[in-house]
Amino acid sequence: MSSEGSALSTRLAIITARQVAGRDICLLTLQAEDGAPLPPATPGAHIDVHLPDGRSRQYSLLSSAPYTIAIKAVRDGRGASQWLHDTLSVGDTIRIGTPRNNFGLREGATDTVLLAGGIGVTALLCMYDALVAGGHTVCLHYWARSVEETFLHAQLSGRPGLHIHACGGRVTSMAAVIAEHGPQADLYCCGPTRMLAEFTALTQGRDPSTVHIERFEADSAAMPEASDEGFSVRLARSGTTIAVGKDQSILEALTDAGVDIEYSCEEGLCGACEVRLLEGDPLHRDSVRTPDEHDQRRTIMLCVSRARSGTLVLDL
Ligand code: FES
Repeated sequence: MSSEGSALSTRLAIITARQVAGRDICLLTLQAEDGAPLPPATPGAHIDVHLPDGRSRQYSLLSSAPYTIAIKAVRDGRGASQWLHDTLSVGDTIRIGTPRNNFGLREGATDTVLLAGGIGVTALLCMYDALVAGGHTVCLHYWARSVEETFLHAQLSGRPGLHIHACGGRVTSMAAVIAEHGPQADLYCCGPTRMLAEFTALTQGRDPSTVHIERFEADSAAMPEASDEGFSVRLARSGTTIAVGKDQSILEALTDAGVDIEYSCEEGLCGACEVRLLEGDPLHRDSVRTPDEHDQRRTIMLCVSRARSGTLVLDL
């Protein structure tokens, strides 16, 4: 199966500005290649950026009008961010997806605390700006390795409620920050895997609806083992039943059968392949939804999730 992602809702965008925003970090401003307005996005939304080699990566929108994303070149990573950072310049065209938001601000929250590590701050700045613009009290704690590696350091320093911690690579004092806020506070966290693990541990016992995480790497440690058995899925609208092999994802089985499904990351990160589950016993293995959210939404990510047993009936 191609890893290009379905083009159901992608479009070409042209880079209209590029700005250095820290060590190995650049800001790209995008507009639709055909000049049409880009779809609106709410604070916390991200877009897929599709690379020419078929891979895609997710980037938070720092602003939605115009679209602005930040790319950090991860030199020992899988090469995608480095390619984007080092190659793209003003006038180049890239394919992007429609914004998705798995990390939106909760309506009616009275105390919102944003906790960022490294480039994870880009997922939170748009939320910070929206809350400040709405006259809300907001607190953003941002842990960066050093002043040089602080994203937009000069522009961010001194802004109300924003605390920058140059921490040498260790996220210190998060426990104290969380403890300052009562159980009603909404906590949002985006950062490296180790920080998210610590955040998860520190927020055990809080109301799950007030604890929000955005991941840009799959949480493989928390991913349940899939059984090595195949199963089947039934598409409720067409009545078709499709077998899913033991080494195959549901997404692969459906696309191989000619079913047009939107997808992007294929790692359970982006939410593009989420569909409603009508019946069955799913084994959720994504990093997008919490167990509570899965219970409420009755959806499933087709790229990583499986059936515990029997047949899954999908709203397709
Ligand atoms: S394609 Fe990204 S979550 Fe499935």
